Amino acid sequence: MVPHALLIPFPAQGHINPMMQLAWKLVSHGFLLTFLNSDSSHNSILKANAPNSLHDNIQMISVPFEFPVMDTLEGIGNGMDAVEKCMGPSVIDRVIQEINAREEENKLTCIIADAWMSFGLHPLATLHKVPLAVFHTAPVSIFAIHYFITNMVSLGVVSSDGIPKQDQKTKYLPSMPPLRSGDLPWLWGGEYFFRKGTRMAQEIKHIKWILFNSFLEIEAPVVETLSKEVGVYPIGPLIPPEFLHSTASTKVLPSLRKHETECLQWLDKQCTHSVIYISFGSTGIMSEKQVEELALGLDATQRPFLWVVRSDLMKGSEAILPAGFLERVRDRGCIVSWAPQLEVLSHPSLACFVTHCGWNSVQESITMGVPMLCWPYFADQFINRTYVVDVWKLGLPLDANSQGIREKEEFLKGVEILLESEQGLEIREEARKLKGIARDTIKDGGSSWNNFNLFLTAMKRQPNE
Ligand code: UDX
Repeated sequence: MVPHALLIPFPAQGHINPMMQLAWKLVSHGFLLTFLNSDSSHNSILKANAPNSLHDNIQMISVPFEFPVMDTLEGIGNGMDAVEKCMGPSVIDRVIQEINAREEENKLTCIIADAWMSFGLHPLATLHKVPLAVFHTAPVSIFAIHYFITNMVSLGVVSSDGIPKQDQKTKYLPSMPPLRSGDLPWLWGGEYFFRKGTRMAQEIKHIKWILFNSFLEIEAPVVETLSKEVGVYPIGPLIPPEFLHSTASTKVLPSLRKHETECLQWLDKQCTHSVIYISFGSTGIMSEKQVEELALGLDATQRPFLWVVRSDLMKGSEAILPAGFLERVRDRGCIVSWAPQLEVLSHPSLACFVTHCGWNSVQESITMGVPMLCWPYFADQFINRTYVVDVWKLGLPLDANSQGIREKEEFLKGVEILLESEQGLEIREEARKLKGIARDTIKDGGSSWNNFNLFLTAMKRQPNE
């Protein structure tokens, strides 16, 4: 019997990408896959990508419910309950029955759900007699902080509704570095997200296989601590193999937005290690003032840059750039609304990445050896910044002023330190070293390779073996 997995990503770009990477990895080991999405994300993928960019053994299906594409901060906040309702256990149950009725010879043999999609799935998987694995697309540390919330409350470092007790750097968990009080991943969304995160961790703690798009070497203490309690399997970084072996590639991830590949030709014309790449993922939103400060900073650096200005980067309108900016930077700036990010990060012209520290962006940057300037925005991104800056020493923070604005001077200072100073040289050297470690962990015998193979063997086992 061919192993057949149902993959259930959370329907947003930052979750779909790593789940698709996992899908490709499984397909290359003989799996059939059914990739379930919301109608809106499904349709966006079909519209933005060439039909041949999807693998024949990955069947893309969607649930017949319409809700907003989950690719803005507001959208995520409003949509989480809708997702739980529209893609909850009763809907998944129907999907499983339909697949099994259609695929007599190739019935489902396992389910892999995003951690945020796993509510109520365990009993359903048991009912259908297939194993359920969970995929947590953010770091192990983020899961740990949701999981160990009761310890943090008993230690008195946060209140029972998740509010930090002290406004200073605190060691919330012994296995994690000290975090700024504002780093806790639920604070952006208030008590609702605190409860939801706690519920997610409790829901999946009994599940044998919790996969992470991370790797042991970057989170060893927290992996060790958490492994004493639950089944932690970091299998990352999940990056398409063609990006690990050469810089040239035509393959792109199935994206919700169309990649503007012309910027690669522009990159080809730039000097080695000269270009600043700026992207805030699929969800970062900026005020007009913030866009202006960043544009002025880019203007003042006199360095070449590639800036992803999404059509929804500024709330309520197209991004408003300072008067005369585009003319002034015409010879050294390239602006796109969505970049082929992996190709960009692996391009020899890149000097550094100004990133919101979305976990995929961080993993991609690590794997390509690109140093970072960290500009976190919400959820896990603040803790990701702490690891990038304080633990792995792969970048510098860009700090906001008391009005929450990253000023032009802060940006300029960060760029100059990173690209010109002794400290910057050390950071770039660390980035080069970690790139090698990240690539080794997914090679034969590496820790992520071992975890993935354990998982693979378990999922290939027949239910009655
Ligand atoms: C979000 C959160 O930020 C992240 O921390 C969480 O773990 C998952 O959901 P997002 O904000 O979109 O995701 O950022 P990120 O995790 O970096 O994912 C964005 C993905 O889109 C990356 O894989 C990146 O390569 C891709 N991308 C981004 C593009 O292809 N083109 C772009 O122009 C920008």
